[in-house]
Amino acid sequence: MKEKIIIFDTTLRDGEQALPASLNSNEKIQIALALERMGVDIIEAGFPISSPGEFKSIKSISKIIKTSKICSLARCLPKDIDVAAQAMEHAQENRIHLFLGTSNLHVASKLKKSFNEIINMAVSSVTRARNYTNDIEFSCEDAGRTSLKNLYTIIEAVIDAGATTINIPDTVGYTTPTQFKKIIQSIFRYVKNIDKAIVSVHCHNDLGMAVGNSISAIEAGARQIEGTMNGLGERAGNTALEEVIMALYVHHDVLNKYTNINYKEIYKTSKIVSQFCNMPISINKAIVGKNAFSHSSGIHQDGVLKNRENYEIIDPISIGLNNCKLNLTSRSGRAAVEHRMKEMGYHKSDYNLNELYVDFLKLADKKGQIFDYDLEALAFFKKQRNIEEYFKLEYFDVHTKLSGLSVASIILMCGSQTNIQKASTSNGPVDAIYQALNKATLYPIILKKFNLVANGEGKDALGKVDIVVQYKLRNFHGVGLATDIIEASAQAMVNVLNYIWKSTEVNKRIRKIK
Ligand code: KIV
Ligand code: ZN
Repeated sequence: MKEKIIIFDTTLRDGEQALPASLNSNEKIQIALALERMGVDIIEAGFPISSPGEFKSIKSISKIIKTSKICSLARCLPKDIDVAAQAMEHAQENRIHLFLGTSNLHVASKLKKSFNEIINMAVSSVTRARNYTNDIEFSCEDAGRTSLKNLYTIIEAVIDAGATTINIPDTVGYTTPTQFKKIIQSIFRYVKNIDKAIVSVHCHNDLGMAVGNSISAIEAGARQIEGTMNGLGERAGNTALEEVIMALYVHHDVLNKYTNINYKEIYKTSKIVSQFCNMPISINKAIVGKNAFSHSSGIHQDGVLKNRENYEIIDPISIGLNNCKLNLTSRSGRAAVEHRMKEMGYHKSDYNLNELYVDFLKLADKKGQIFDYDLEALAFFKKQRNIEEYFKLEYFDVHTKLSGLSVASIILMCGSQTNIQKASTSNGPVDAIYQALNKATLYPIILKKFNLVANGEGKDALGKVDIVVQYKLRNFHGVGLATDIIEASAQAMVNVLNYIWKSTEVNKRIRKIK
């Protein structure tokens, strides 16, 4: 009989901790909902002790998510465990995930303790966490470089204390598939009580072997795979879940395993994660890259036309990739837009039809034809920007010359009553607008990252601008989308200014309450 592989997603924790700017609560909720629809068994929603914002997001996710189990990360410290439990008190089902370094390196130079002290910390933390839930995962951080003897000792101790999942992370992506398989096999062989827990793996991709190591671990008996969508995560990232899932699917007869994953949601979930996290997917990325199912050479194209399977091991339709690029125009009604979104696999709750239709008409007037990727961009963009708009760009004008200064003038609405007019010059049009906006708001900001991509194909693709701005040591992420790249750049900055305004308003309220 086929055995189930538990899919544990840590996009919102390991993935999020490596982003240039953190996700806001709304973005995290949208990602959690997409993961739930995709059928992941466990969503690691974050590390709640790390900040009040993180705690609040986990709390909201715990209230909203119904079918996936919610998990929170905690160090082996009493406060961490209590806060993790509190953050998930409304979850239908929850898990506390404890971690502690076990390699000599981590024990001696990071934690500055003896291995016996580490075992005591681990056991007392599992015991404390068991007061809150029966579902405890224990991770031997840096297991890939831990001596096997120490690994057996600590695993046996935490299972005796009540840990129900033992996670073996290759924290620094050090092992090869053969080495990693041996580690998992020997755990099954030498840990006496291992049958009382599920063995999980969590592989990093520093040598590009995370997915290979995960599959090897499954062959050795692991029953839970941890990873992230698109392989996001610390440094070179984590196991790309979509790759492991599809490898299990393609080789189900040999591996004899199955997952609960709803394959048709994979492509969409990957896109949502990429957009919200501001992490583009490389075009040749396995499974979800733009070229993953496109064939360039004449011989390949001919072969695919004769029989798709000549050059494809996965039917793109199975992961929700729709080939149809039907175009809508400004004559298309709301029903046509809704119908197309449904055909692309989006649920009504994924977007706001009224807002999407207004934006669709505006864009259709400019572009003439609207393609699937335009609709997706507009729908995601609205969700992502979902914030009260205190600042609105009422007007802008930029003049620019070859090897001369650019001159920008703007009118910025601040609330419903005030509008501020400013002008500025710089050596480029985007900087000129940004300086004029700066003069209007006087926020001491630093532009840390500016990224412009064409969303779509051809000369009238939409320009999408992602920026990261630092304000008082905090990073804010903004997006702008328009047919005009200067307008998209300006919108991205206005989006950031609204986030900053919102955060300063919240702080003012907190100060008043105190
Ligand atoms: O890479 C790692 O070791 C981790 C643990 C917290 C599981 O992310
Ligand atoms: Zn990790």
